[in-house]
Amino acid sequence: AEPVVTLRIARDAPGPVIARDIFGQFAEHLGTGIYGGVWVGPKSPIPNVRGIRSDVVAALRALRVPNVRWPGGCYADEYHWRDGIGPAAGRTRTLNASWGGVIEPNAFGTDEYMDFLQQIGADAYVSVNIGSGSPKEAADWLDYMTADKPTSLAALRAANGHPAPYRVKYLGLGNENWGCGGAMSADHYVEQMKQYAHYARDLDTARPKGEAMRRIAVGWDGLDADYTEAVMKAWKSKAWSWDIDGVSLHNYATGGWPPHLASSDFGEGDYLSLLADGMAMDGKIAKQSAIMDRYDPEKKLALVVDEWGAWLKPNAGSNPGFLQQQNSLRDALLAAETLAIFIRHADRVRMANIAQMANVLQSMVLTDGPRMVLTPTYHVYKMFVPFQDARLVPVAVQGQPRLAANPAIPRVDAVAARDAAGRLWLAVTNLDPAAPAEIRLEGLRAADAAGQILTAPRVDAFNSFAAPDLVRPTPFAATARGGVLTLRMPAHAVTVLAVRET
Ligand code: AHR
Repeated sequence: AEPVVTLRIARDAPGPVIARDIFGQFAEHLGTGIYGGVWVGPKSPIPNVRGIRSDVVAALRALRVPNVRWPGGCYADEYHWRDGIGPAAGRTRTLNASWGGVIEPNAFGTDEYMDFLQQIGADAYVSVNIGSGSPKEAADWLDYMTADKPTSLAALRAANGHPAPYRVKYLGLGNENWGCGGAMSADHYVEQMKQYAHYARDLDTARPKGEAMRRIAVGWDGLDADYTEAVMKAWKSKAWSWDIDGVSLHNYATGGWPPHLASSDFGEGDYLSLLADGMAMDGKIAKQSAIMDRYDPEKKLALVVDEWGAWLKPNAGSNPGFLQQQNSLRDALLAAETLAIFIRHADRVRMANIAQMANVLQSMVLTDGPRMVLTPTYHVYKMFVPFQDARLVPVAVQGQPRLAANPAIPRVDAVAARDAAGRLWLAVTNLDPAAPAEIRLEGLRAADAAGQILTAPRVDAFNSFAAPDLVRPTPFAATARGGVLTLRMPAHAVTVLAVRET
């Protein structure tokens, strides 16, 4: 008989709101993430609106993407915004020294990014250049984007086709400045960051107070703690002149650095290795939260996991600087489990950005010329849409919670939330590579549950251009007996269900 796992749902003990920003995306000028993945240019035979490909826009709209972090990543600290504005023919051509040593045409700049956000219905999360820029350059960029009074840069924005100010909801103050962002000590970074936090202002004087721009400082990279400690210490004793709203955490699942795990054609060992590494996210969030709690027990600042995902061996024959990898059912399960970790930490983790949206690392979509395929990770994001801005409902997993083959990995995991309409949503993941699971719900009188399940015959199954629907969600439902609902889940699967109570 299958081992029975019990989910005890604390339906009457609601937790914090799960900020929809934790379902954010990250799009860097890296490989074909922007060029090819988003931007094809207005003259392309690929259907597009003002150069932005329509198939990708339609796919992302269905995910209700809350925000997109741009232009990097490491690239943000070598990006100079003036290179990417104005008539297409006059754009500066630069070298993308961070990624692949290719020519950056700057065809996709600030106005194209804002157009893209408007097309998919997402908010801006712009990272300013601290590594090789200046506070003046960042302040000017904010002037160009946000000024509502007739400054020269607002006039330039209008001349470039957008008289109304843009909204920059989030501003990233640098990126990994311990490494690719200038190899700064934590103390040096903090001094720089304070200048940017002060001078890079939202200049839209008509902006309602509740919509004020939020600034995110660079924190931990998952290996060390000095940045978070230094940033939080500075914030605690800050002067009136600057403030921040969050501190970042970057953490990739690799199964060991440098990235060496194959993204397709792998076996159970690699499956366990990647998932076990992914589970470390929980401890890293807990460690960083504990540092933040010492300075900010009221949790005013958010922990922003603005880079995370599977970082695997590049596809054979691809430019290794393009970080192209296949996306399998294993990635989907990693995504489901990581989202569950964020959801459980919803009181502190209020934004996250998977790396990266298109064609880079753990993507939502893969494109090749006119073709596009939705990845298994995409389907998880779509299934989790009901969790956006819902209220956490605590779930205790009892029974056989760890995998015998690797106790770092829970066998079955679950999160629940109640949406604004009062519906109860449950996401359950069976991470066992081989064994199905019987799962009983306790703590509520259930009538039935209905939703979708994502699985495939093999953990390394992926969607190719030839077989784009190999891994796709299918309907999944269960009916209760005597108020007790039992789910029979296949191995390596994730389900998201609306549970009806009697
Ligand atoms: O996402 C790829 C890279 O990973 C980013 O540019 C950088 O910030 C991180 O090291």
